[in-house]
Amino acid sequence: MGNILTFEHIDAGYGRVQILHDLSFSVEEGEVYGVIGPNGCGKTTMFNALIGLIIPNKGTITFNGQNVTKMKPDKRCHLGIGRTYQVPRPFEGMSVYENVLVAAVHGANHNEKTGREVALKSLELTELYDKREILAGELTLLDRKRLEIARALGTEPKLLLLDEVAAGLTEAEVQDVIKMVKNLKAAGYSIIWIEHVIQTMVEATDHLMCMSDGHELLIGEPRPVMESKEVEEVYLGVEEEDEDE
Ligand SMILES: Nc1ncnc2c1ncn2[C@@H]1O[C@H](COP(=O)(O)OP(=O)(O)O)[C@@H](O)[C@H]1O
Ligand SMILES: [Mg+2]
Repeated sequence: MGNILTFEHIDAGYGRVQILHDLSFSVEEGEVYGVIGPNGCGKTTMFNALIGLIIPNKGTITFNGQNVTKMKPDKRCHLGIGRTYQVPRPFEGMSVYENVLVAAVHGANHNEKTGREVALKSLELTELYDKREILAGELTLLDRKRLEIARALGTEPKLLLLDEVAAGLTEAEVQDVIKMVKNLKAAGYSIIWIEHVIQTMVEATDHLMCMSDGHELLIGEPRPVMESKEVEEVYLGVEEEDEDE
């Protein structure tokens, strides 16, 4: 299969502060692509450039054969780029089902009837179907993360972006997340998964990129990347800085 996404030599940032420096990588259709790297190295910023919240100063982003480098976020969403946020932000006073329905209606241009089918399918894939009538504000952390993913699925993405969905979960809950991501891959979604929980990356990804200072430090099979000297060194560097504080 071909690539669903390619970043070529991307420079991007906020105002005059450049965060991504000549970032290049590509994601194959149907794979789970893991992204690691020390705090502040630009992982979430890469997602922001990918969904169109920031526009690169240099380079090209190609999604599903189309140049999307300067395209507006809503247009990219309709093309099939679906994100989750590092901090879940559901409409707390609405039910789980209503939250996902809103995503389907606004993100994928559904009417309430066709949106209903998409929403229910998204809830099944994230194992929230039985909790669909509960208010979003009453969910546990794990279920809020599930809902965050269900809302992204509601927009009918081809490429699903997961930003630290395993953060803050217990080990058993992390296993549930890994299972869910594997199910999503089996259902045909391509996935980019940013995560700090190392175990998830080794168990669930097909390729792994370690970023450092806005650039790809190393890309390859998950385990060799994780066990490499370069990756160990960027993380060690960060820990030593922490010890000085
Ligand atoms: N909205 C913003 N405006 C200015 N700087 C930002 C903004 N968001 C993030 N940054 C900065 O960009 C850098 C990379 O952040 P981020 O992409 O969130 O890192 P990561 O997700 O890898 O932890 C950090 O130095 C952060 O302070
Ligand atoms: Mg981040």
